Amino acid sequence: MKLGVNIDHIATIRQARKTFEPDPVTAASLATLGGADIITVHLREDRRHIQDRDVRLLKEMVFTKLNLEMAAARDIVDIAVEIKPDQVTLVPERRQEITTEGGLDVVSQKETLAEVIKRLKNAGILVSLFIDPEESQISVSRDVGAQYIELHTGNYALARDDVSRGKMIEKLQMGLKTAQKLGLQVNAGHGLTYHNTGLIVESLDVEELHIGHSIISRSVFVGIQKAVSEMKELIIRHSSQKQQSNRKDDY
Ligand code: PXP
Repeated sequence: MKLGVNIDHIATIRQARKTFEPDPVTAASLATLGGADIITVHLREDRRHIQDRDVRLLKEMVFTKLNLEMAAARDIVDIAVEIKPDQVTLVPERRQEITTEGGLDVVSQKETLAEVIKRLKNAGILVSLFIDPEESQISVSRDVGAQYIELHTGNYALARDDVSRGKMIEKLQMGLKTAQKLGLQVNAGHGLTYHNTGLIVESLDVEELHIGHSIISRSVFVGIQKAVSEMKELIIRHSSQKQQSNRKDDY
């Protein structure tokens, strides 16, 4: 299971003073040294954190996989097509939101999304859609040409007791199965922390986990390389626990 590290909030600190530090490009190098398999940035329409210059420089120096989160808005799509990150994850975006709220409504924007996805794929970019684990959203994601979906784990992260957490896990597992049957590759993310990621790793066999805020928060105290390597170790530990229990079930 691969770890994608979202470094937006390094840029949030920089933009608090509109200065040159801390530089998300440096953060990307250190995150990679710590074991990040993917570097993610969200180029928002209001440019509140990541700037165009960051995406351009990251494209030059990220040798693993650069995942650009973005809205399906014409100006931003133009930039993506020009810079050509390895992957684009389309997300819903509202000016007033603090972070991405809810998944993309693929069903109601089928035609627009199909066109945007075609443009991105023609530029050689892999396309992922950030969606809630709903059957209709998943099947339309395949119809509009996405290769990946990213299942929104936000409601799982918000669950406050084991019963509701269990229900959210079941929903995500159903989403994963449905998507795999349709031939989609499946990622997951949002709201994941050092406390709630283990259960996700043990319950969902996804390709990539996308984590931002919790890793960057820890990096303030321990440094980004260490914060990333601690998350990476956590994922590896829980993956091998799962493999061991699967093996026991086989006997
Ligand atoms: N995945 C997507 C599509 C997102 O929009 C975000 C937030 O930028 C994340 C994952 C990471 O979420 P968090 O910062 O809560 O870990």
